[in-house]
Amino acid sequence: VETGKSSECTPVRVAVRVRPLLPKETLHGHQSCVHVASDSRLLTLGHDHCFSFDVVLDQNANQEELYSTCVESLVHAFFQGFNATVFAYGQTGSGKTYTIGEANIGTEEDQGIIPRSLAEVFKLIDENEARDHTVRVSYLEVYKEEFKDLLEVETANKDIPRHQTPNLQIPLCGLGRLGAHRADGERWGAAEGIHPDQQRPPGSGQRD
Ligand SMILES: Nc1ncnc2c1ncn2[C@@H]1O[C@H](COP(=O)(O)OP(=O)(O)O)[C@@H](O)[C@H]1O
Ligand SMILES: [Mg+2]
Repeated sequence: VETGKSSECTPVRVAVRVRPLLPKETLHGHQSCVHVASDSRLLTLGHDHCFSFDVVLDQNANQEELYSTCVESLVHAFFQGFNATVFAYGQTGSGKTYTIGEANIGTEEDQGIIPRSLAEVFKLIDENEARDHTVRVSYLEVYKEEFKDLLEVETANKDIPRHQTPNLQIPLCGLGRLGAHRADGERWGAAEGIHPDQQRPPGSGQRD
């Protein structure tokens, strides 16, 4: 990913998104304690605790801005053979679910990263007719050390077996994959278990 002024490559970029105060917070008279100077990568906490990040988006940034600034280039790089991960981190209520777009949000402008990325993946496939593409999707929840396959209802409450390999990778055995051919939920094919040898364990992805 190209950063800032030079074309130096960094495998990880960190973006901070400040969410607006919620109506209930405003109602209780809460005030924002973070300040983002316009067009800067600096965030000030309180009066004088200043931090810099690759990207800082203030409370006025919408979902489109977040997607185009932080994710779109990764989807394009993905089509050139790079692995990509988008990781939302923050305390409860900070806006992870909203940002990643997992919640079932009504309007198109409110859609988050997952629906926008999927729409882009299928758009890029449509534009590139010279190649055949196969899209498979897995959806895994990790909560309190438990791994759940959210695409397979019947196994959703079971633990997915895993073990740690000597090089500290954790392959997940039996995580289902569904074939997909549209971004809007229609899908083909039956769920298939991924053989541990076939799948890439977390942490084994390489960018460059
Ligand atoms: N950028 C945003 N703009 C407007 N509302 C937001 C934004 N980010 C989060 N929210 C709202 O804040 C609340 C908490 O967000 P949520 O995504 O559920 O947090 P988390 O998943 O981190 O616990 C939700 O009501 C959500 O709709
Ligand atoms: Mg959440």
